[in-house]
Amino acid sequence: MLVLGGTGEAVALAEMLGAAGMAVITSLAGRTESPRRPAGAGQEVRRGGFGGAAGLAEFLHGRKVHCVADATHPFAAQISAGAAEACERAGVARVALARPPWRKVQGDHWREVDGHAEAVAVLAQQRAARHIFLSVGHNGLRPYLQLRGRRITARMIEPLRFAPPDYVRVVLSRGPFEKETEKKFLRDSEVDIVVSKNSGGEAAYPKIAAARELGLAVVMLSRPPAPPGPVFASAADAAQFIAGC
Ligand SMILES: NC(=O)c1ccc[n+]([C@@H]2O[C@H](COP(=O)([O-])OP(=O)(O)OC[C@H]3O[C@@H](n4cnc5c(N)ncnc54)[C@H](OP(=O)(O)O)[C@@H]3O)[C@@H](O)[C@H]2O)c1
Repeated sequence: MLVLGGTGEAVALAEMLGAAGMAVITSLAGRTESPRRPAGAGQEVRRGGFGGAAGLAEFLHGRKVHCVADATHPFAAQISAGAAEACERAGVARVALARPPWRKVQGDHWREVDGHAEAVAVLAQQRAARHIFLSVGHNGLRPYLQLRGRRITARMIEPLRFAPPDYVRVVLSRGPFEKETEKKFLRDSEVDIVVSKNSGGEAAYPKIAAARELGLAVVMLSRPPAPPGPVFASAADAAQFIAGC
């Protein structure tokens, strides 16, 4: 089994498959210094890109992989597309594990956008939004730096590899978060608007619930399209399907 990871769900899936007696290779992009690793017997972890779909197809062949579980983050579109192409080429089965996206509920003020460029355009129009809270990770930050004249608080797991301009405050923090602490953080920071990926799952949702209760607008980045194929919402369902393959 090859589990394409970088998420908590990937760790859970790898552990379930290992416990079921499978030899599991978890693959990580290698961006995080100390990522969570699956525990238990039969686990191997590799780090770093494969060199595109061709490199991954070669890896699948070389390591005699029977099945690939794409448990990467829903916004990691490149690796998912590469995995779909590689599995097609190598004739290897592929399943995806993806948390369902969050749905807007009563009281939410969401503006749903397709990508960072549209988010920046929306924010540029909303002049009253003086202080922007960004929850878009490392890679997403750069497009927002053009919003000079605003305050930006960007939360991420690891420090930036460049010095941000003086209107940007970086807050280092790793979830899971809680609604009450998120409310306090947004209130104390005097945030006017929240920008978030529609990641789904529970760990990152408290900021969305907190924004709703504080009456704050959210610019919600919609997910990039995923390759076709079987998708499971839980590690347990994916593991059950894989066991029957
Ligand atoms: N994007 C997010 O918001 C987000 C949030 C939380 C966690 N993550 C995790 O962080 C990783 C990187 O995310 P990203 O958005 O930068 O991905 P991406 O844009 O889809 O991938 C860029 C390249 O990084 C390599 N790569 C990505 N994930 C890999 C993996 N699990 N194993 C081996 N190589 C991988 C691949 O290189 P090659 O083409 O050379 O194979 C891929 O083409 C993912 O594994 C994802 O699960 C992402």
